[in-house]
Amino acid sequence: MAYAADEEDSIQVGRQAIERLGSRRKVLVLGSGLLRDVPLRLMRDRFEQVMLLDAVHLLPARIAARHRGVTIVVGDLTGMADVMAGAPGPRRDPLARWRDDPDLDLVISANVLSQLAMAPAAWLERRPGREEDLPPDLPPDLPARIVGWHLDDLRALRCQVCLLTDVSYSERRRDGTEGADIDLMHGHDLSRPRARWDWEVATWGEVARDVAHVHRVHAWPNWGKET
Ligand SMILES: C[S@@+](CC[C@H](N)C(=O)[O-])C[C@H]1O[C@@H](n2cnc3c(N)ncnc32)[C@H](O)[C@@H]1O
Repeated sequence: MAYAADEEDSIQVGRQAIERLGSRRKVLVLGSGLLRDVPLRLMRDRFEQVMLLDAVHLLPARIAARHRGVTIVVGDLTGMADVMAGAPGPRRDPLARWRDDPDLDLVISANVLSQLAMAPAAWLERRPGREEDLPPDLPPDLPARIVGWHLDDLRALRCQVCLLTDVSYSERRRDGTEGADIDLMHGHDLSRPRARWDWEVATWGEVARDVAHVHRVHAWPNWGKET
């Protein structure tokens, strides 16, 4: 799997986001994961506080948090975890505590957006014929709403937002015929990206001899305010 080039492209966009900032007090990384596609060292050097948010923090994040100024935060960016656990709706605002933080200078949404709808979609699928058990205010188009909620959450921030996300998944066939082409943004138009690249998650022969799986990634160092 050719991940290194994709990670380096993402890191480069994160660097551009940091370089354009006037003030560097706090940075919040959403979907920090294994910290492979964010400029961790640069963030540590430039910011007073680096906050890493993910649903699950594995060893790389826990090691990173041993450094002064780096903290890990466990959080659910869909805001749906409580609802899925049986609490009544509506969803919780996952970024509420940072919404008006005057010291927050940068938020990086780090290749998490396309993943957010997965667990809620699986949760819905596990409940066939049990619609009456679902919270009454649950929107029918939940995956699309989850993508939209994250974009709204980012728009509501006062600070600069760097957005990195894969926007589509497609199959490339050696014989040139059309394969699957899936919109991971569920119909949301994110505006023209500053950078875009293809990320070959499975090359010829990895999952099928004549089919490669490719994700198209879009990136904005200053999302919503690019000219
Ligand atoms: C493709 S990985 C991101 C890669 C990461 N930025 C890196 O540099 O290695 C997606 C991450 O999103 C996280 N994630 C998925 N759903 C989430 C949710 N609802 N809330 C918070 N994090 C979530 C996963 O745990 C995973 O770490």
